[in-house]
Amino acid sequence: MKTENTVWHEQQVTKQQRSIQKSQKPCLLWYTGLSGSGKSTVANAVDALLYARGCHTYLLDGDNVRHGLNGDLGFSDEDRIENIRRISEVAKLFVDSGLIVSTAFISPFASDRALAGKSLAEGEFIEVYIDTPISVCEQRDPKGLYKKARAGEIKDFTGIDSAYDVPQTPAIHVKTDEKSIQECAEQVVQYLIDNGFVQEK
Ligand code: ADX
Repeated sequence: MKTENTVWHEQQVTKQQRSIQKSQKPCLLWYTGLSGSGKSTVANAVDALLYARGCHTYLLDGDNVRHGLNGDLGFSDEDRIENIRRISEVAKLFVDSGLIVSTAFISPFASDRALAGKSLAEGEFIEVYIDTPISVCEQRDPKGLYKKARAGEIKDFTGIDSAYDVPQTPAIHVKTDEKSIQECAEQVVQYLIDNGFVQEK
């Protein structure tokens, strides 16, 4: 619990200095989409491209974070909101460290995504909608979870018996069923170049 005796301490090395040192503009690529839509796959491919360009990045991935920091959370609406709140806070610190950060979480509620965006400085939050029809996600079913959800073995499954708010104005709209993973990743990197986050080579 935050008390009135906790005071924010300004750091001597600023975000701007870190940004100049790394020759990049820190930002947060917020991937959102259904389970099996390809968020982690595209985010990993983007990370690899950025790494190859000499950028400094970090990827916070839903399934991994749920093993550690958010290991106490399930999939009720309340727990998903807390999941995204914690991720937003962690991502904000990573952005402050000068990195190009990616988060790959379903993040089904538009209000939580908006909140994540508000916690960052103007222009730092980039919503990336990984738009894959549920029929395609269900066909891919990489973890066999749709099958279990249809059989009633998993409750509150996104897109089946739990809501997903489709992003209305995503900064980047990626259609994974129309392009290769490489093309999807290049689309994201091109956005970063066009908007001055990453230097043109
Ligand atoms: S979020 O809704 O809170 O943003 P998050 O991205 O962290 O979800 O975790 C989603 C992953 O957890 C899915 O890709 C899937 O592997 C797994 N999962 C397990 N149960 C569920 C469920 N009920 N709904 C959605 N995903 C689930």
